[in-house]
Amino acid sequence: MKPRVYITRMLPKPAMERINSFCDAKTWDGELPPPREVITSNISDVEGLVSLLTDKIDADLMDKAPKLKVISNYAVGFDNIDMEAATKRGIIVANTPGVLTETTADFTFALLMSAARRVVEGDKVVRAGKWKTWGPMILLGQDVHGATLGIVGLGRIGVAVARRAKGFGMRIIYYDPNRQKQTEEELGVQYTEFDKLLSESDFVTLHTNLTPETHHLIGARQFELMKKTCILVNTSRGPILDNMALYHALRDGRIAYAALDVTEPEPLPPDHPLLTLDNVIVAPHIASASVATRTKMALMAAENLIAGLKGEMPANPINPETVKRAR
Ligand code: DGY
Repeated sequence: MKPRVYITRMLPKPAMERINSFCDAKTWDGELPPPREVITSNISDVEGLVSLLTDKIDADLMDKAPKLKVISNYAVGFDNIDMEAATKRGIIVANTPGVLTETTADFTFALLMSAARRVVEGDKVVRAGKWKTWGPMILLGQDVHGATLGIVGLGRIGVAVARRAKGFGMRIIYYDPNRQKQTEEELGVQYTEFDKLLSESDFVTLHTNLTPETHHLIGARQFELMKKTCILVNTSRGPILDNMALYHALRDGRIAYAALDVTEPEPLPPDHPLLTLDNVIVAPHIASASVATRTKMALMAAENLIAGLKGEMPANPINPETVKRAR
């Protein structure tokens, strides 16, 4: 008998085929996330669950799935899962690190460049029929080359962004609670205290996990420290930024611009105050959204799931101690 699993959204085909070859899988085929009651009613006898960052997997839900052995999250971030509850129940949780690093760093740079050079505003001007002539003062932006980039969180994606910034001739400073001496030497990036990074950077880009410590890491006090010309980029998690403080900072000219791939909440309602401003770009959480990367993430999630079902250590465990304990 194949192990039963529930998948909360259709994944790219190669991953669906791989999962179906090993499992008796049920999949939610809606475009929007399955309602909680739907997940609950489908997991009572499953051994495996493939979840997305839009699914809140908490202790209560886990208790509805007494046979659950493995949760394979189709994302590198796992703030949607109560890790303590999973570990307590001996459920292995795995994620999809690495394969989306370069794609996410590409998109971070796309946002940074778009904000610096006002690409989205320019497009709106053209579409609105307001492009009358070439003009010395039209849509002046900021130079990226030679500017100081402050990276908050020098993990895999932070490092990949630093490599790109190096190619653009930027001065790179970073803050991370764990100092990365080797990367400092390899890439010529400089460790800086958090407040100093905020006050020295022309661009600040966020690459931390969302934890209780990083929730609203950037708020009113931090905007006070930033340059008035600063451009803020966030491709990590929305709640790392205090959105209303950001709104006030952008509206009042405390900082110049923000380019966000992630927001709090998601989706950002169309009547959110941030969307009344011209100096903000908001993308719908698509930094990892390339055909190749989403397929790699899905295959990785499939392999993590299958390993967990076999009682083996998945390649990308978040709480490996659960597997060791089961043995
Ligand atoms: C992740 O994986 O955590 C991203 O936010 C989506 O790819």
